[in-house]
Amino acid sequence: MSGLLVRDCAQIVTPDGAGKVLVHEDAAILCEDGRIAAVGEPGRFAGHKGETISIHGGVATPGLVDSHTHLIFGGNRANELELRAQGATYQDVAAAGGGIKSTVASTRGLTLDHMVQIGRTRVRVAMAMGTTTMEAKSGYGLDLETEARTLQAYRALSAEGPVEIRATYLGLHAVPEGIGKAEYVAEACDRILPELANRGLVDAVDAFVEVGYFDEADAKRLATAAEQYRLALHLHVDQFHDAGGAALARVLGATSADHLEHTGAAGIEAMAESEVVPVLVPGSVVGLGLHRFPDAHAMLRAGLPVALATDFNPGSSPTLSLPLVMALACRYMSMTPAEALCATTANAARALRLGDRGSLKPGMRADLALWSASDYREIATYFGINLCSGTVIEGTPYLASQ
Ligand code: NIG
Ligand code: FE
Repeated sequence: MSGLLVRDCAQIVTPDGAGKVLVHEDAAILCEDGRIAAVGEPGRFAGHKGETISIHGGVATPGLVDSHTHLIFGGNRANELELRAQGATYQDVAAAGGGIKSTVASTRGLTLDHMVQIGRTRVRVAMAMGTTTMEAKSGYGLDLETEARTLQAYRALSAEGPVEIRATYLGLHAVPEGIGKAEYVAEACDRILPELANRGLVDAVDAFVEVGYFDEADAKRLATAAEQYRLALHLHVDQFHDAGGAALARVLGATSADHLEHTGAAGIEAMAESEVVPVLVPGSVVGLGLHRFPDAHAMLRAGLPVALATDFNPGSSPTLSLPLVMALACRYMSMTPAEALCATTANAARALRLGDRGSLKPGMRADLALWSASDYREIATYFGINLCSGTVIEGTPYLASQ
């Protein structure tokens, strides 16, 4: 037997495909040719001759998948923390020239090299906390040159590996200075998107559908343009108001509907009758000091494959930690640790249409997160403490101790 054997696992835990997890106690896992070959009791692998690592009684799960990030941006928005402490809301800060627009100003000046450097550091931080696949959005350029550079940086980082990055053109994030909304939407959909798609820089598109940003008609126009290039559609919806965003995601055939803090019963029902994956981002609720979390429980009751993501960005959710997001979901959204693990693995992979990862079934990509814990529920129990002791990506180990 060749390949990589991960042994001395107190638990190997994987989604079972039906919203629950399967726990193998005192087990080992064999990876061959970058894929999972087998999970089982250690004696079964006694003849293994290839590379072996011991995780010393730790836990192995599928590598975590972060299905919603705004990975590359310039500058920081630390001043907004102060403004919010004095009572300003996210919308007040944006109206005073802060928010997304201020990040656009500090991102436009970055060279491609600088973007790659910034992105690389952040990917390493995420990977050290168990992330093995990420989605990353543009949307802090809002002009062809900067959007293209950001997306090129994602392609470069993904090629460099080991974390695979799926690139999303978030063209409709905010209306840039000096242009009206209608004109900008036309520019984004009819000129920028085709250029980016023809250059092979995008896997998906996204729009921020919210009062004061973009509306249903704008999102529809983007979706129609994206369809021509067979790109997936993600949508930021119902973050601050229930504006029917979840139902819109269904109508437009979106792969995911993200945020959903204000989505009510009708939106949940609409998603349940479709293939839309709800991607919940409690980091952005806590990040803004707000209290209204999405109704994950109603979504789970409706049979939806709820995913959790960081929404890493400089304004609302400055965290790259999926374990922290799981911890928040277990406290504030009544999710169980098992539901939170499915939400950052199998369901998150589904939100990115990646059918080859997110569980430890034989034949899946050999992507693992390794944890210094003896019970997988510890991952979401602790917060502000990193229990991740390493990852395996496509069968190659990356251990924190090395
Ligand atoms: O997902 N809501 C829109 N976009 C981001 C925030 C972006 C920013 O504030 O820079 C989000 O929360
Ligand atoms: Fe976001």
